[in-house]
Formats: sequence, C-alpha cells, structure tokens
Amino acid sequence: MATHRIGILTGGGDAPGLNAVLRAVVKYAVGKLHWQVVGIEDSFNGLLETPRRLRDLTPQSCQGILHRGGTILGTTNRGNPFSYPDGQGGFINRGEELAAAIRDEGLEGLIVIGGDGSQAIGLQLMDEHGIPVVGVPKTIDNDLSATDLTFGFISAVETATDALDRLHTTAEAHDRVMLLEVMGRNAGWIALWAGIAGGADCIAIPEIPYDPERFVGKIRERRLRGRQFTIFVVAEGAVPAEGEALPSEVAHGKGRIRTGGAAQTLAQLITEQLDVETRVTVLGHLQRGGGPVAYDRVLATEFGVKAVELIVAGRWGEMVRVAEGKVGSVPVRDAVAEYRTIEHAHPLIAAGRAVGIEFGG
Ligand code: F6P
Repeated sequence: MATHRIGILTGGGDAPGLNAVLRAVVKYAVGKLHWQVVGIEDSFNGLLETPRRLRDLTPQSCQGILHRGGTILGTTNRGNPFSYPDGQGGFINRGEELAAAIRDEGLEGLIVIGGDGSQAIGLQLMDEHGIPVVGVPKTIDNDLSATDLTFGFISAVETATDALDRLHTTAEAHDRVMLLEVMGRNAGWIALWAGIAGGADCIAIPEIPYDPERFVGKIRERRLRGRQFTIFVVAEGAVPAEGEALPSEVAHGKGRIRTGGAAQTLAQLITEQLDVETRVTVLGHLQRGGGPVAYDRVLATEFGVKAVELIVAGRWGEMVRVAEGKVGSVPVRDAVAEYRTIEHAHPLIAAGRAVGIEFGG
C-alpha cells in the first residue's frame, strides 16, 4: 500500500545530472519506501495537455540512467503555466487548470527539479493554489543564491576546460587570439572557473564590464614576453564598459537564433586596435549535453535522497541545497529571492588576478 503519491518533473534548460536525481528519488521513494512517483513530461506541460503526459516511475524504468545526460522526462524553458503562450502572441494564466490536474491525479505534491524560473513557478503554485512542492536546484549556470553549487555546473566547467585545452594548442601553433564564449546567462561562474582551470590569459564576465584597452594591453605584454597567442574566456553576458555588445540571441523567422554576440563584440574591439588574427568559438549547448562528471552524479544523488527525506519529514515548501559542504534545505521562497552573481571581491577573482589573469576592469 503506497503511503505517498507524488509527482516529479524537470524544468528549464537541461543540466547533466537530472537523470541522476530522478533515479535517486525513485530508488529511495519507490524502491525502499513503496511510494508512487509519477513522472510529468516536459516540465509542467505534461499536466496541461490533453491527454496528459504522465508515467509511473519505477526502479526498473530508471535503470541505467545515472550517467546519462538530458532528462528521461523531457523539459522546456518556455511556457510558464502562469504566463502561458496562447498561440496568438499573448499569454494566459493556466495556474488553476494546473492545480486542478494535480488534484485530479491524486498527487499529494510535486518535486520540482529546476532553476530559479521553475522554483518560482513552484512557489506560485504553493502560494496561490495550495499545492505542496519540494524544490531541487539545477542549473549549469550556478546562479542560485541559496546553494553553493548546483549539479551540472562542474560538468559544464569540465567541458569548457577541455575546450580551452584544445584551443591552447591551435592558438599557439598559429599565433592567434582565441576567444571561447561560454554560457551562464548574467553570471560569470562558468567563465571564471573554466578560465582558471584552463589557464586563460583573459576572462570577461558580466559582473565586470570590461575596458578593451586592458585586454589589448595584456596581448601586447604577452607578445613582448615571446607569447604570440592569447586565450580568452568570454561569458555570454559579458559587456564592454562603454558601448554595447552584439546580442547573444536574435529573432529570426518564427523563432530565435543564438549568435555568440559577446565574444564577437570583444574580438571586434580588439582588432580595431591591434593587428592580430582572432577566432571565436561559441561552446554553446555542448556545455549542457552529455553525462554528468562524478561530482555531479554524487551531488545529484544526495539532492534526490534529501528531497524524499524532506517529504518524509513533512517539510514541503523547502528546496534542497548544499552549504558549506553539507546538504540541507532552505525555504523555496528564500531560494528564489536573489540571483547569485560574482562579487568583485570574490576570492576566485583575487586568485585569478594573482596568477596574472586580466579581467578587463
Ligand atoms: O540557464 C542555462 C542556459 O544554458 C544558459 O546558460 C543559457 O543562456 C540558456 O540556458 C540557453 O538557453 P537555450 O537552450 O534556450 O538556448
């Protein structure tokens, strides 16, 4: 006899480790505690469509997914139920419909695995419709203030670091300035970590609007030392202190195209001042694809187990997190209150400066 029947979904952009969380929740909640866990497909959409797209998750259906990227449930970073595209260019509130579907399915509450957007939707469901939620933070951007780390981040950093290792050899062979653009939205965490791990000479992050002169100075200084190549990591949200960056996404046809505008902008500013060959690499979704590194598998497993423990303890309304090395939890409300960017005085920026990295400001 199942004692709990809960729904689970993955929302927002995918991140390596989502499947590891699903597996941990199901192995514990279904395999050990004999609950029912219902997987909701494509974030909240699986509950809003007719017929609904739901499936019972079992330890058998979650076999072999620990190391797999993506999410077996599918996800979307479009279509907030509270501001849902009506197909005619407008938006409608489908919150009531969503809450009714959750009740109709006999779900006691939801585990929402997602970033700030999905957690905010969970909070609204709880506040406005009384649906209990437990949050599990996810994002390669590592920009959630309530947790020191999100799973997926270290995997993304690993991919970016590998790209930098490869760019180094070709940059050196051709005496070029190579710019690697990485993701991160308005936070520079991936750029900062990968830049330090990959031995970048210059890092541009959104938190430090850059003066191109400082980067040009760094290239000149390296040349004087006989280093004819220079490696940049440019966060997609990086901007010059003066003027504007080319957009990172533009409307085209019926959709949108991601352009790599941040690194292109910096390459243009450099070549206006210096006779140098630049090449831009936009790493893009390689950072989200593929399986999680070992650390993210461990963190995702701990997060999944903790989410179940919170429900056992009746602590709905909380989000799992890691703080000072320990997995714990925090009210979802506090978790979505603040966006986590890098403080100028952050020790990693100081460490970067100490080893000669130029931040452009
Ligand atoms: O939030 C994760 C993230 O990968 C960001 O780093 C990036 O700006 C965005 O999602 C890309 O979204 P999309 O998959 O819609 O291009």
